[in-house]
Amino acid sequence: MADQHSRPRWHYSPRQTWMNDPNGLIYNAGTWHMFYQSNPAGTGWGNMSWGHATSPDLVTWTEHPVALLHTDTEEIFSGSCVFDATNSSGLGTTDWPPLVAVYTSNYLAGSSRPSVQAQSLAYSLDGGTHWTSYPGNPVLDRGSANFRDPKVFRHGDGWVMVAVEAAERQVLIYRSTDLIEWTYASSFGPAHAAAGVWECPDLFELPVAGEGTSKWVLLVNLCPGGVAGGSGCQYFVGDFDGYTFTPDAVRGVSTDPELGAADPLLRAYDWLDFGRDCYAVVSFADAPEGRRIVLGWMNNWDYAREIPLTGGRSIMTIPREVDLVRVGDRLRLRQRPIAELPESALERLTLGDGDRVLIRGVALEYRAGVLSLDRRGVGQGDFHEGFGTRQWAEIPDRPATVAVDVLLDTCSIEVFAASGLVVISDLVFF
Ligand code: FRU
Repeated sequence: MADQHSRPRWHYSPRQTWMNDPNGLIYNAGTWHMFYQSNPAGTGWGNMSWGHATSPDLVTWTEHPVALLHTDTEEIFSGSCVFDATNSSGLGTTDWPPLVAVYTSNYLAGSSRPSVQAQSLAYSLDGGTHWTSYPGNPVLDRGSANFRDPKVFRHGDGWVMVAVEAAERQVLIYRSTDLIEWTYASSFGPAHAAAGVWECPDLFELPVAGEGTSKWVLLVNLCPGGVAGGSGCQYFVGDFDGYTFTPDAVRGVSTDPELGAADPLLRAYDWLDFGRDCYAVVSFADAPEGRRIVLGWMNNWDYAREIPLTGGRSIMTIPREVDLVRVGDRLRLRQRPIAELPESALERLTLGDGDRVLIRGVALEYRAGVLSLDRRGVGQGDFHEGFGTRQWAEIPDRPATVAVDVLLDTCSIEVFAASGLVVISDLVFF
């Protein structure tokens, strides 16, 4: 098996280095910025820093030098970026407001806080190219070893942060007026899928299609314990008053790591993706025209370190635009590949009951209202015993036929079914 696989056509992949979670996704001054967990020195996880790429259209990406570099005593873990337009932080001026990155300092031996994870700031006054770390870091320290992945957004005249106490399976909400002083507001969880650690949360408001209203969506990535096994992204729909997130419904909690994807409870919960490879999903800040666009790391910690190289190691999912749709008694997330992706990149199929199509050896099958994607035995899938699996999802209302849009790339397949109410994303090394 060749370790080096061809680079993807539509998906971002770093040229030479290791990549995991997307970080600091933001649209600013006409440019889409994607930062990401990067090992600038190799193709395995380590030396965690923020890599950087930019795009004019979310389809064509240019890789840049590392934005936030680790030191011997501190790694730069996941986080987010905001444009501080009013210079509330004082890190720029009102005439020249800063971009502010809020990230987790993962303190190592030899630092003043060994084994602690706390939240820190860096700022850029040149549109994201050069970054300076805030001298008062960290700005939020609970003395915890698992407090990470801050996602910050504007709310009214203040700022809200959601972050995780990963091992407690909790999302913590903090508030600030200046990004520097943070006040605890509330916690959410454990709820629904909680067999693995909670990571990389996001919280945003979304319109409900056709109803002229909106609701809040809390994304909670977890690992392991995802619906397809290993890493996964669940979501909760509810209300948010600036301090507390209140879900519309909580249907129990699944905490048994032994059961894994076989836990029947998992199927009662809401999943952003039913495939094996869609993790650490978070959204872009400040997308124009009220768009909400999410992006995930197209990989799974079950085998992430061993997948074939595509230049560097790993790719991102296609960016997806999301809204909410009422289906029966719940609101469900609907995802579409961003409109900037050429139509010709997608193949539209309609599957009736019992239909099975082979896409370069991957079987896509629809039977009794269930859609499945089977990558067992395809091409170079033998690098890890956990890779060859079949993923499946029930289509709401189990219709007689289902329309699917398939995005096939050199090492991946993403299936958007039933107008994007169900998505299955898998790596496939053909
Ligand atoms: C998720 C994660 C985050 C952490 C980062 C470290 O994949 O474990 O919780 O910040 O990766 O690279």
